[in-house]
Amino acid sequence: MHLTGQTALVSGAARGIGRAIALRLARDGADVGIVDLNPAAEETAIQVRALGRKAVAVQADISDPKQTREAAARIAADLGAITILVNNAGIVNNIATVEKMTDEAWEKEIGVNLTGAFNLVRAVVGGMSEKGHGRIVNISSVAARGGLARQVGYSATKAGLLGLTHTVALEYARKGITCNAVLPGMVETENVKAMPQEIREAAMAATPVRRFGEPDEIAALVAFLCGPEAAYITGAEIDISGGGHLNTLVLGSRRDASGR
Ligand SMILES: NC(=O)c1ccc[n+]([C@@H]2O[C@H](COP(=O)([O-])OP(=O)(O)OC[C@H]3O[C@@H](n4cnc5c(N)ncnc54)[C@H](O)[C@@H]3O)[C@@H](O)[C@H]2O)c1
Repeated sequence: MHLTGQTALVSGAARGIGRAIALRLARDGADVGIVDLNPAAEETAIQVRALGRKAVAVQADISDPKQTREAAARIAADLGAITILVNNAGIVNNIATVEKMTDEAWEKEIGVNLTGAFNLVRAVVGGMSEKGHGRIVNISSVAARGGLARQVGYSATKAGLLGLTHTVALEYARKGITCNAVLPGMVETENVKAMPQEIREAAMAATPVRRFGEPDEIAALVAFLCGPEAAYITGAEIDISGGGHLNTLVLGSRRDASGR
């Protein structure tokens, strides 16, 4: 098991992609601390323990620096020094055009999706640096590069995470710490399953493989980036979107790119 002896902190692991990541890291040998607002994080911790690993769930708001610091300290005290950080918690707080985006919605998305990730990096990177080993993975989105109409706050924060990733990678490259961004397309989480059928169909049509990703597929990539074989990957932005980041326009044909 390539993550034996590691302690991971996964934010937003009460459900969805974060829960899949927490369970995958545990299956690969890591003990797992969860920081989430949602008390259902305890259920993920129970599932981690059932895999034979240690787990602790801390209820905290990552947009608050003090709560974040305390949560990270509690996890390190219970499970040992944190060597893996997965910044997964994220929200879509408002679906509105630029002009209709409220100040509150904009600030809330920046606070959770971007400042939250910064708060967690700041809380753990010193300890990783002392140990001379660390893995940080930031869950961004294809929206970071392609934008997303009616979600200006979300796409701006996901693009901001790329800048955070690059700078942390540069500052800590010689301390044995890597920092990478993963950019998922549509993933079959509770939220995505609950979307109106017409939106799901439009998103499916823009996805060359014609299906959405599974949380376990995102988790497998994250686990690889957290392992010893990924030591030479840092500052990378890795798409995991079934080709959804590609241009699907087909010139000179009404058929799709596969010729059908
Ligand atoms: N589902 C997708 O299709 C998709 C696609 C691209 C990127 N992503 C990204 O992947 C990540 C996980 O997505 P998901 O669909 O599993 O989301 P989700 O909404 O199912 O889970 C997010 C978790 O984050 C927690 N959270 C929210 N605000 C928090 C805060 N202030 N402090 C602590 N925890 C907080 C929530 O309680 C929840 O448990 C997000 O960053 C999302 O933007 C998702």
